[in-house]
Amino acid sequence: MNIKRANELMPIGKTGGGATATVVDLFCGIGGLTHGLLLAGLNVLAGIDLDLSCRHAYEYNNGSARFICADLSSLSPAVIAALYPADGIRVLVGCAPCQPFSKYTKRYRKGEQNGGRENDDWQCDNKWRLIYSFSDIVEHIRPEIVSIENVPELATEKVFADFHCALLRLGYNVSHSVAYCPDYGVSQNRRRLVLLASLFGNLSLIKPIHNDGNYPTVRECIGDLPHVVAGAENTEDKLHSASELSPINLRRIRSSVPGGTWHDWDDSLQLKCHKKSTGQTYTSIYGRMTWDAPSPTITTQFFGYGNGRFGHPEQDRALTLREGALLQSFPPDYSFVDPEWAFNRRKVGVHIGNAVPVELGRAIGESIKIHISEANVNEQQ
Ligand SMILES: C[S@@+](CC[C@H](N)C(=O)[O-])C[C@H]1O[C@@H](n2cnc3c(N)ncnc32)[C@H](O)[C@@H]1O
Repeated sequence: MNIKRANELMPIGKTGGGATATVVDLFCGIGGLTHGLLLAGLNVLAGIDLDLSCRHAYEYNNGSARFICADLSSLSPAVIAALYPADGIRVLVGCAPCQPFSKYTKRYRKGEQNGGRENDDWQCDNKWRLIYSFSDIVEHIRPEIVSIENVPELATEKVFADFHCALLRLGYNVSHSVAYCPDYGVSQNRRRLVLLASLFGNLSLIKPIHNDGNYPTVRECIGDLPHVVAGAENTEDKLHSASELSPINLRRIRSSVPGGTWHDWDDSLQLKCHKKSTGQTYTSIYGRMTWDAPSPTITTQFFGYGNGRFGHPEQDRALTLREGALLQSFPPDYSFVDPEWAFNRRKVGVHIGNAVPVELGRAIGESIKIHISEANVNEQQ
């Protein structure tokens, strides 16, 4: 892995052709996207998110980028506009919460993960509005460059079509594609929708820099970390400790082979839901990942063995938070926990699983930089 701390880098701000570009990151979380943009050499001014527990990781690891705690559904766009300098190229990026669009939550909503019952507490409508909030902010500020990142399923939703139309109406050139994260150096088979829009002309995601002959593997990413026992606390690195396993789950993981399924288990270990016809298709839960391929998608629950194929390839335990962070391509020394705050394992896991993989963020940043420098060349001709 190519690892550099963003605060060791001078955000160049000035791109190839001389124009100064500055970035504001909406829904910034703990800064996966911001960190990647900084590594690409863009100057990120600030990130905005309503979850104050993201502040430490966001600011500690990301140079002078400041964290603004605010609800973007009610924040005046004028406040965001005022963050940019008076001249230069304004870049607005963001990754709104993606729960309403993910395959898992869609199934959950239909009741497939919930014993066939519809969920009463489904709150997605509220969250969908955040894409409309993003669109309103773009309309108000008219930044020269816009990018959003989200789950691929978003592309089929009306809210996405509306956002796309609004960008075209405002005069942007728009492209969008589904990025396969291993193509950009992430050892995780996550797929993400990346939309890029520019007032200067065509802007699209750079071509893949890896292929299936040289995708970074789980072994390369986490293979040299110290051995960990399920449930044991690791005082050297709090993040590198694994969730406790019940005796039956310990027996289950011992019966799991890398890349296999619960079908490999003895009948006595199978869950009731596995025995129902609807349960037959959930083959990846209680799975073990394989060493020599990218990992499965790191969700917000990757640190639980029963939540997906999150079993370690050879140790009898689920992934640790540290391993999830590395598979999300965060640098090994990225600091996630404010020493002044109580350590909340579940919350850190959610932050890590929610993040844009840093290396995908870097690819988005590279795409923007190249585009600006080409636009400048064209202006000078
Ligand atoms: C998918 S995560 C963003 C991940 C982040 N871009 C990264 O790369 O680490 C979505 C974020 O939106 C934030 N969020 C949810 N509702 C919000 C709101 N109304 N205003 C501001 N932030 C919000 C959540 O706290 C969460 O951190």
